[in-house]
Amino acid sequence: MLHPAGEDAAAVANLFWVMAAGTVVIWLIVMGITVYAVLGKERPKTERFADRFILIGGVAFPSITLAALLIFGLALLPDWVRTEGADLRVHVTAEQYWWRIAYELPDGSVVQSANELHLPVGQTAEFVLNSTDVIHSFWIPNLGGKIDVIPGRTNLWRLKPTEPGVFRGVCAEFCGPSHALMAFPVVVHEPADFAAFLEGEATPVDAPPNHDLFIASGCGACHAVRGTSAGGAVGPDLTHFASRRTMAAGTLPITAENLASWLLDPKHIKPDVRMPGYDSLPDAERAALVSYLLDLQ
Ligand code: CUA
Repeated sequence: MLHPAGEDAAAVANLFWVMAAGTVVIWLIVMGITVYAVLGKERPKTERFADRFILIGGVAFPSITLAALLIFGLALLPDWVRTEGADLRVHVTAEQYWWRIAYELPDGSVVQSANELHLPVGQTAEFVLNSTDVIHSFWIPNLGGKIDVIPGRTNLWRLKPTEPGVFRGVCAEFCGPSHALMAFPVVVHEPADFAAFLEGEATPVDAPPNHDLFIASGCGACHAVRGTSAGGAVGPDLTHFASRRTMAAGTLPITAENLASWLLDPKHIKPDVRMPGYDSLPDAERAALVSYLLDLQ
């Protein structure tokens, strides 16, 4: 939060430092007065001095300071009326416990992805936020403030990254046992690299070896692998799964070991996750599914 890489985050960090500095100054003044009262020479004060001291120090000063901070803070709220269009629209749907992500192309079609967000630097991205189950909250601390994602309601949110890099997005509203295991890497690219990413993400894949096993095991009923017969829409799109940075929504790095233990018992890694375990499969078949997933570049 205090290492801003986006316009809104810079404003929030600025507000934090102003508040922190103001708090330190006021604390020093109060402590100074306390020390003076305890250790200073005893000198009788007039009734008038005491009244004024309370009126100025206890009423006028806090009222003015708090009002100024309120105005300063309110000025950071997003504009009520949006005058300009965003450069990019991304549909984000929060699920227990992962993020469905769909990039909107200029022709209105969308590119499905999940659990990893890519953005171009210096461009305003508008997020169209929905939830299918409970209230979640969408937060990328380095880029800006957070917003609740509420079932039955569409919230719009804008962020403008100002520096390329890889950041961490999180769910910031308690949504169930795996609330803290619902993160997503955020990759901010130069615009040309972002265009290349989007083109790659939009491209379907050829079915890797073991695709028949993937279908026979029922994986395709929940997961889509574009370009193949797997078209499930319940779980995350897996088309370019192996090119992502994490699995299980920011929970683990993608390795053969992690995938093997995930397929065996996902709830051990992520309590309450909706994906069933595949401990009934022979070890060789689970290993084949792991290599299938690692082929989805
Ligand atoms: Cu989703 Cu917390």
